[in-house]
Amino acid sequence: MTTSIRGDVKDISLAARGKDRIEWAAKDMPVLRLIRERFAKDLPLKGVRMSGCLHITTETANLAITLQAGGADLVLCASNPLSTQDDAAAALVSEYGIPTFAIKGEDEQTYYRHINAALDHKPNLTMDDGCDLVTTLHTTRTELIPAIIGGMEETTTGVIRLKSMEKNGVLRFPVLAVNDSDTKHMFDNRYGTGQSSIDAIIRSTNILLAGRTMVVFGYGWCGRGVASRAHGMGANVIVTEIDPTRALEALMDGYRVLPSIEAAALGDIFITVTGNVNVIDRCHLELMKDGVLLANSGHFNDEINIPELEKLATSKRRVRDFVDEYTYADGRQIHLLAEGRLVNLSAAEGHPASVMDMSFANQALGAEYMLSHANKLQPRVYTLPAELDKEIARLKLHAMGVRIDTLTPEQEQYLNSWESGT
Ligand SMILES: NC(=O)c1ccc[n+]([C@@H]2O[C@H](COP(=O)([O-])OP(=O)(O)OC[C@H]3O[C@@H](n4cnc5c(N)ncnc54)[C@H](O)[C@@H]3O)[C@@H](O)[C@H]2O)c1
Repeated sequence: MTTSIRGDVKDISLAARGKDRIEWAAKDMPVLRLIRERFAKDLPLKGVRMSGCLHITTETANLAITLQAGGADLVLCASNPLSTQDDAAAALVSEYGIPTFAIKGEDEQTYYRHINAALDHKPNLTMDDGCDLVTTLHTTRTELIPAIIGGMEETTTGVIRLKSMEKNGVLRFPVLAVNDSDTKHMFDNRYGTGQSSIDAIIRSTNILLAGRTMVVFGYGWCGRGVASRAHGMGANVIVTEIDPTRALEALMDGYRVLPSIEAAALGDIFITVTGNVNVIDRCHLELMKDGVLLANSGHFNDEINIPELEKLATSKRRVRDFVDEYTYADGRQIHLLAEGRLVNLSAAEGHPASVMDMSFANQALGAEYMLSHANKLQPRVYTLPAELDKEIARLKLHAMGVRIDTLTPEQEQYLNSWESGT
């Protein structure tokens, strides 16, 4: 481990490989590239101190380079102990001069030490993925709050936590819920999590999905993506839900919908994407068949009740990278992937750059928006304006070489009128 004042990364000699991969990701991030070019000219973030708690991936590196081009003075730390790409972290430090505190596999103590190191930067703007930075600020680092203008939050779970802070009157600065932009959750959560979670399950096990029964817990944006990609590879998908509308949607999308306790005995592969706790609990674990795979792609590692799995097992061993085999007293073996941490970022590379292009365009434009509107915002959770969201979609379509229609004056007038009917 190399520790320096420029951050804390696993091995700085990985930087050259990290730079190659960061440049590879950049090829598929055309919207962010356009923003970077404008930022480099206009310097909208000049002199602004930023602390970002994000998954340290090659795509995040491209966001960081964009913010740096806009004049930001930026420090990064990991938003999950297992999601860091050590080569990207090394490159951020040594190739791009962005202090980064992140080591794949770091323990919880190191994880929070890194968050605190990022906060020692005394930020004016925060970026979070899961709200651990903002909650640390509001609990143990409150002295830093007066300097903060606002923040951005990347994921559903973080937005839920922020809304709870807002509701309880404890949130002390405005935060933009980047996740709530259409160009974020409709693409990143659905197609990004869909593809990369399946990728991670296959990379870590080399399992054939065709003909297997896959149980997807939660049919939100992530669940829809995971179910459709698994179905596309020939799995028989069962969905579990607690929301009647989402359950109905899953049913009409062609999946079997069952109570989780019934699905527990049928599945070969289980994946949780609910943002909720103990969705796979002891009662489910007791019913599972020999040889099943368990994975989580929700934000925190509490969707599968791992302490109960540990109690049920008489032995545990690591059988492949990111695969732990738990053996019950009756001989059944249950395989937990990536220690129950979000599987796509732990056992694979996370979302493809093409979707992160839109998510991080929202982060970059969000930072600019927050700075220019700070005096009008209250300590609440906001979404990005719809025009910025649409502009990101427009730029993405343009980059993909796809053209669409525009309204004719007659159509525009028609849509704005009420007089004409049957
Ligand atoms: N792995 C990743 O890279 C990645 C990417 C984006 C979001 N996330 C995370 O994934 C989680 C889901 O995000 P989303 O955007 O799909 O949220 P969402 O709110 O759209 O969907 C969650 C769904 O889970 C359902 N649910 C809640 N409790 C349940 C239970 N006990 N059993 C069955 N279903 C239940 C809800 O009714 C809802 O339909 C969040 O934690 C989010 O932060 C992960």
